[in-house]
Amino acid sequence: MSEIMIGNPKTPRWSSIHSHISGLGLDENGKAKPIADGLVGQVQAREACGLIVELIREGKLGGKGILFAGPSGTGKTALAVAIAKELGEDTPFVSINASEIISAENKTEFMTQAFRRAIGIRMRDVRKIISGVVTEIKYLKKSSPFYPTPILGGAKIKLETKDDSKDVNVGPEIASQFQSLGIRKGDVIMIDEETGEVRRLGRVKEKSTIGFDIDTEKQIEMPSGKIQSTREIVRTFTLHDIDVSIAAQRIAFSIFGFLSEERGIDDQVRKQTDETVRKVTSEGKAQLIPGVLFIDDAHMLDIEAYSFLTKAMESEYAPIIILATNRGITTIRGTDEKAPHGMPRDLLDRLLIILTKPYTEDEIMNIVKIRADELDIPLTDEAVKLLTKIGSERSLRYALQLLDPAKVISAKRNSIKVDVNDIEEASKLFSDVNESTQFLEKYKDLMLK
Ligand SMILES: Nc1ncnc2c1ncn2[C@@H]1O[C@H](COP(=O)(O)OP(=O)(O)OP(=O)(O)O)[C@@H](O)[C@H]1O
Ligand SMILES: [Mg+2]
Repeated sequence: MSEIMIGNPKTPRWSSIHSHISGLGLDENGKAKPIADGLVGQVQAREACGLIVELIREGKLGGKGILFAGPSGTGKTALAVAIAKELGEDTPFVSINASEIISAENKTEFMTQAFRRAIGIRMRDVRKIISGVVTEIKYLKKSSPFYPTPILGGAKIKLETKDDSKDVNVGPEIASQFQSLGIRKGDVIMIDEETGEVRRLGRVKEKSTIGFDIDTEKQIEMPSGKIQSTREIVRTFTLHDIDVSIAAQRIAFSIFGFLSEERGIDDQVRKQTDETVRKVTSEGKAQLIPGVLFIDDAHMLDIEAYSFLTKAMESEYAPIIILATNRGITTIRGTDEKAPHGMPRDLLDRLLIILTKPYTEDEIMNIVKIRADELDIPLTDEAVKLLTKIGSERSLRYALQLLDPAKVISAKRNSIKVDVNDIEEASKLFSDVNESTQFLEKYKDLMLK
């Protein structure tokens, strides 16, 4: 009986500027390959990240913290994305920006929730399932007396594995799950026969086409064995998922008048979750998986948030905290005190620090090429040279941002390739941060205050 792993469907949606990254690009000995998995250079930091991933997998980093420190555009956020990709979907990875904490109505509540989303509970269960790669999918319509137009009546799909194939007819409930999951040919899916729950397990290697939306997606081997089988299913929930379900049960009670007041997730709910988790883990029915809470631009946090972090890192259930900052010595928000990265000493002392250094011209050139490839933007050699120059003299991020507008400009003159003129024009139309700062300085008397 082979097992099936089901990850947490709420994995972070990364901003598309990092869509070219699919992992840390390390070899089997943990050494960084010069260019791999979409990453270029930054060798030491990538190897350090590889160790972090190993420690997280072995459960040896719970309650500890990592800090990425380095100038803007040196790949701190990119490395966090790579770590998340390496860990896979079975390890919770929560990514937030410090500004979200600062602007939250209730900071403590926001942070508590983020912490609890980053801690997984892995449970095993034996289920009857239907699973395979979708090779045909057709939705059926039926008419309804209540609606003027036909409604979804079900679906016909064909599932295949290396050893088996089967036509499956499903009802409207399952068909609508297909639609909301965007199931298409080449997806490996699993349907729970008893509950009718549909899960998408990934995309099969052979069937994938080259396109930028799926390049970084989890690709899996063509499944083998019977379509219909009894399997051990491994699921990862988060503490927050359990909080939500306990709170929902309570609300259901209160609707029927069993409880006097309606409550959301409060301390009592969380306590109940913790007790349940303690029980099932001590009985060996479930395993605790400390995931990652990534806080980008961490220097924006204030002293209150830092105290919460430091304290929470030492609690019974704590995820691995990864912080990123591009600030040197600066004031700790909410105080008059200056400190490295604007962070209090007692927090800094608990962090392992990974430095990210500015890129060489050669590395910038390779990053430009990878991004252009990812965005399907063919560049002339001269254009690559110019973008590399812009990347090293102004900023890497600015050079990468010019790619899309330059493509539009080149398309207007019916060119297939983006050339130097297109980039020059794009850079005339859009300025980088330095330029706009100088502009504001020059016209400061005319700007609104
Ligand atoms: N080593 C690398 N290989 C490939 N792409 C990279 C690398 N480093 C950075 N990039 C890409 O360059 C851009 C800028 O990098 P990123 O956003 O990670 O910088 P950062 O250090 O987080 O900057 P900031 O401090 O301003 O947040 C992104 O599109 C990122 O994906
Ligand atoms: Mg960043």
